[in-house]
Amino acid sequence: MNTWAIKYTLLVTAIAFVSLGSAQARDLPQPLNDSDFLYNGTPNAEVFELGRMLFFDPILSGNLNISCGTCHSPGHGTGDNISLSIGEGGQGFAMSRKTGPMGVVGRVPRNAQPLYNVGARSYTSFFHDGRLEPDPMEIFQSGFWSPAREHLPEGLDNLLAAQAMFPVLSPIEMAGQKGENPVATAVAEDRLVDAWSHLAKRLADVPEYRAMFEAAFGPGDVTFVQAANALAAFQSKAFRSEGNRFLQALRDNDPSLLSDAARDGMNLFFGEAGCSGCHSGPLMTDHNFHAIAMPQVGPGKGHGNDTGYWRASGFMDRVEDEGRFRVTFDPEDRFAFRTPSLINVSLTGPWGHSGAYDTLEAVVRHHLNPIVSLEAYDPVSLPQLDDVIEQTGEGSQLIFRPLNPARSGAYVLRDQWVQSSDKLRSRIASENDLVPKTLSDDEVDAVLAFLRSASDPAVLDLVDLIPTSVPSGLPPQPTQ
Ligand code: HEC
Ligand code: HEC
Repeated sequence: MNTWAIKYTLLVTAIAFVSLGSAQARDLPQPLNDSDFLYNGTPNAEVFELGRMLFFDPILSGNLNISCGTCHSPGHGTGDNISLSIGEGGQGFAMSRKTGPMGVVGRVPRNAQPLYNVGARSYTSFFHDGRLEPDPMEIFQSGFWSPAREHLPEGLDNLLAAQAMFPVLSPIEMAGQKGENPVATAVAEDRLVDAWSHLAKRLADVPEYRAMFEAAFGPGDVTFVQAANALAAFQSKAFRSEGNRFLQALRDNDPSLLSDAARDGMNLFFGEAGCSGCHSGPLMTDHNFHAIAMPQVGPGKGHGNDTGYWRASGFMDRVEDEGRFRVTFDPEDRFAFRTPSLINVSLTGPWGHSGAYDTLEAVVRHHLNPIVSLEAYDPVSLPQLDDVIEQTGEGSQLIFRPLNPARSGAYVLRDQWVQSSDKLRSRIASENDLVPKTLSDDEVDAVLAFLRSASDPAVLDLVDLIPTSVPSGLPPQPTQ
């Protein structure tokens, strides 16, 4: 098919969306250029290098045992290839990550998001539920709506920098548990500014970091806002990825760069199959939120009002993840999650906000009939957690002890409850907004070929970004 034919197909698609009464006509994807990225694609070199060190240095974690790169590993599609990350307290990487000697309090409730192209200016929110967003009304001094509300400081360069303020505060991701270290204790006592200050002081105490901060930002006190700005500069450039054949074909106006199957898949994707209704634009996302009845696995985000799990287990936990609803409290948003970018998607499994599907085909087929797929869902097996610790006591008496073995069955049940409870499953199903579609097996194969053509295997070479040593002297994570 010649270029004109592709353009024509895409144009027809755009018109079809209008005539279907869709929210707006979809633009034909245009390739991206430097000005579509933060810092116009070229962050300051010193700031970038500082960000690279910080990204892989466990010094940013309360107990000095995990870095950003542990969960966002360049050799694993900037994720960790497991459904639900094992955060602070774990050891090992990706599929072989296990609980370490200090134990973990549980699984991270959502799949680690890939970081490809997160420096694109088109990102208008971060996280699966978009809980971090710009604040156009300027209610908060930081300029961002976020879970830290008025505590988020000013001086953050952009939304991506604001994001970097958060993983270090999460007890389960990087901070650790109250009493284990001053960062975790400050977080537990809601002294967020103290938590960030403590980390900044740690950095300032390392002469090599002090010199790097000065080279990047000039003389003055080291602040965690600077660290976050450096992390953003690093991620925006390091994980920019447009080398795949799909974007290449758009750039060169040359569809022959795609195989026949991938070309058919592209036409389906932007046409009959309706994928680009949500996965629109060159990054294949509308940055919007949709409920598509994606199964949940894992412990959830503490949402929902179903008491079934309490009664069955004796743990007073709520186990649902209601997604965007918990940000907006708009019932329309219940179980809605942000449309993921599909650039490099064949390298970023498992897929779905909790990593429910472990093949690309299964997650694509889920879209064809979401409710049936949810009902027939055969849960992925989550790696066993061996050393779980639980919180006992209250206030200053709060301590963490190994989970009582008599209760461990109920704990495991928590990670599976949403899959086994008809009631919870039917709540997810009742909110579905994705209309079923019929595609033949050949058509599904074509869509998969197209998605693979939108993935660039060369990005796995980004392991070369991992430094062999970092200024703290701690072992960088992950290992190459
Ligand atoms: C324990 C694993 C873990 C660690 C460590 C971690 N992350 Fe993440 N990251 C995640 C998970 C899980 C999500 C999605 C969380 C959600 O939606 O609630 C995420 C989301 C993100 C996002 C949002 C991407 C998007 O498309 O919205 C960015 C950016 C990011 N992380 C960067 C970082 C940086 C920078 C660090 C270090 C300061 C870091 N992460 C540390 C697991 C981790
Ligand atoms: C109504 C909007 C919508 C449409 C139409 C749609 N998707 Fe999705 N898609 C989403 C959302 C939202 C998610 C994430 C849902 C979640 O994790 O809960 C997603 C997830 C995915 C994923 C998994 C990505 C990842 O990183 O986990 C793939 C692959 C995918 N979609 C492909 C497709 C294909 C192919 C089509 C067309 C057949 C399509 N989508 C149509 C909204 C849509």
